[in-house]
Amino acid sequence: MRAVVYKGQCQVAVEQVEDPRIEAPTDVIVKITSAAICGSDLHMYEGRTTASTGMVFGHENLGVVAEAGPAVQSIRRGDRVVLPFNISCGFCFNCVRGFFNSCLTTNPDRPGAAYGYADLGPYRGGQAEYLRVPFGDFNCLKLPGQPGDQWEDDFVLLADIFPTGYHATELAKVEPGSTVAIFGAGPVGLMATLSAMLRGASEVYVVDRVPARLQKAQQLGARPIDFTQGDPVEQILEQRRSNAAIREAMRPGEEKMLGVMCGIDAVGYQARDQQDPSHEDPTQVLDDLVRVVNPTGSLGIVGVYMPKDPGGADPHARHGEFELPWGKLFSKGLQVGVGQTPVKRYQRHLRDLIIAGRAKPSMIVSQHMPLDAAPDAYKDFDQRGDGYTKIILKPDMRAA
Ligand SMILES: NC(=O)c1ccc[n+]([C@@H]2O[C@H](COP(=O)([O-])OP(=O)(O)OC[C@H]3O[C@@H](n4cnc5c(N)ncnc54)[C@H](O)[C@@H]3O)[C@@H](O)[C@H]2O)c1
Ligand SMILES: [Zn+2]
Ligand SMILES: [Zn+2]
Repeated sequence: MRAVVYKGQCQVAVEQVEDPRIEAPTDVIVKITSAAICGSDLHMYEGRTTASTGMVFGHENLGVVAEAGPAVQSIRRGDRVVLPFNISCGFCFNCVRGFFNSCLTTNPDRPGAAYGYADLGPYRGGQAEYLRVPFGDFNCLKLPGQPGDQWEDDFVLLADIFPTGYHATELAKVEPGSTVAIFGAGPVGLMATLSAMLRGASEVYVVDRVPARLQKAQQLGARPIDFTQGDPVEQILEQRRSNAAIREAMRPGEEKMLGVMCGIDAVGYQARDQQDPSHEDPTQVLDDLVRVVNPTGSLGIVGVYMPKDPGGADPHARHGEFELPWGKLFSKGLQVGVGQTPVKRYQRHLRDLIIAGRAKPSMIVSQHMPLDAAPDAYKDFDQRGDGYTKIILKPDMRAA
């Protein structure tokens, strides 16, 4: 079959690899109809992880079951399914408590496994024609409809970024009426925006510098903040400070709470320096969040921070060590939630919001490209150019 193979820093190729086969009786083989490229893939693509050449990428996978192992009970050939990017067993100490991001049996080296991702186990990714899914009963979520229907682009986003955006709002404790600041208007930040709206947030500020991405945030009902126009924290404080309705409704002392209650990091360790966006500043967003979130507020950090970053700027960064305003965080009494999303915890509920017409995450999808165009797709998405919000690779689509 054809698959997207990592060839070294900023290089992928579409190559013939061996077809996957049923290796355990609980396996399922899925024929992929849509596989999205993720911001997380770009960390590997840019050589900023321990990804090794020859890996098949792709953890955002949707398709149809081609074959089910003899021990699989609930999933059959022909079922349309989406796979959480986490590969989990369903029976270990962490899985039974709902921490599918930290499964103890699917990765021989450490807790947590995923398709086609550095350090997350020996599994190939789904930017390919077929994918082997371990523990098929547990890892396949059944879907209605047919490949290519009105839900195709919504359902593929259930593999990672819609649940991840939702997880960010869960960690940041977004409730009806909450005030929220989201850093990053990439796919994850936009899904956090959609999720904040679904949870009934009152004010949602979204910070980025890419106009098309900020426009999408605005379309979702958020207030866009362009960080190239000045300190984004100051911009948010100023918008709240100058709002007469907010001021008139304040209780005594509330003028000390002109930041927001919920802060979300949807950028991670490759954050750009605000003063000079041609450079990275790995703690830029964390610093901003600690400034903009009010005392007693909460942070949801889903942007990735790698334990090892071979391309990091200094020895500390190369070992995943970052300097944080811990004293300020402590004195504000902020609650911090961080880490990989346990996708399965949210996936079914978010699927049902899509089916009921209450959520349309596909509004962020900007391109469909044939699998064979993956080298161009990676290059374009990596530029974060205007108009490249989310790219879906289609194994069945032929190159023009
Ligand atoms: N926790 C999880 O399970 C999980 C799952 C998926 C993705 N992620 C991570 O989430 C992050 C975002 O993913 P994505 O697909 O949206 O990636 P992306 O790279 O497309 O988006 C990141 C956005 O952040 C913006 N940005 C850069 N510096 C900024 C700054 N200082 N302030 C505000 N915005 C800034 C960029 O312009 C870009 O639009 C990545 O780190 C990705 O690895 C985590
Ligand atoms: Zn992803
Ligand atoms: Zn497990």
